[in-house]
Amino acid sequence: MSSSPRRLTVPQFVALKSQGKKIAMLTGYDYPTAQLIDAAGVDAILVGDTVGVVVQGRENTLPVTLDEIIYHAEMVGRATKSALLIGDLPFGSYQLGVSQAIESASRILKETACQAVKLEGGTEQAAVIAGLTGAGIPVMAHVGVRPQSVHQMGGYKVQRDESQLLIDAHSAEQAGAFSIVLECLPSAIAAKITKELTIPTIGIGAGVDCDGQVLVLHDMLGLTDAPPRFVKQYADLGSAIQKAAAQYCKEVRNGEFPTAKHAYR
Ligand code: KIV
Repeated sequence: MSSSPRRLTVPQFVALKSQGKKIAMLTGYDYPTAQLIDAAGVDAILVGDTVGVVVQGRENTLPVTLDEIIYHAEMVGRATKSALLIGDLPFGSYQLGVSQAIESASRILKETACQAVKLEGGTEQAAVIAGLTGAGIPVMAHVGVRPQSVHQMGGYKVQRDESQLLIDAHSAEQAGAFSIVLECLPSAIAAKITKELTIPTIGIGAGVDCDGQVLVLHDMLGLTDAPPRFVKQYADLGSAIQKAAAQYCKEVRNGEFPTAKHAYR
């Protein structure tokens, strides 16, 4: 009997909005945690370029490469059965234009189980979004704070230019994006965008009225220091891991571990 994954499809993901069902999305980067969050029932997993910060320990997402996204997406793909899988296009993998974007996105779809890609931008990436969707590649857009533009924005500041945000969101939808991430913008603006668009909005620091939410997995599990204010910590794995490792060190040093139970005759 085949055990191949029956993942949520892009059209099924989009339909959740008209069905009035809130969408729960998390980031994922490796086999064991992806297996757990898939089994927990997340609708979608984003193999995000935040891997650069929360896994690789870098200062920002800019150094992440396409090969690294593919490497992590392969692990996540092997681990998951139900969630829609989305691979992030990292900085420098689509900014040259439509053909570079199609080349990069095709690699993600050909070499991993990802069904869609995400890129940062609205109006300024409309031609790229249209080119990708024209090539049969579903695109999630991303407006508000765009971490790949951190130097241009002068930091990760809440974005408050309502008319620009609305223009960006509409441009992304008109260009063919199937969904859009709204990062760090006032709740009222996110609510307005959500009402005006037919595609689902996925908020991160954008209030409760978005069609869905996304959090960075390591932030919500308590594995990062000083996460942003919009993060709710659902577990404190950082403390649990440190406590377990300290107990192990103690038991190794005082001869309590291993016991006969952990040894062979
Ligand atoms: O790369 C990422 O993980 C993201 C999410 C924070 C939405 O873009």
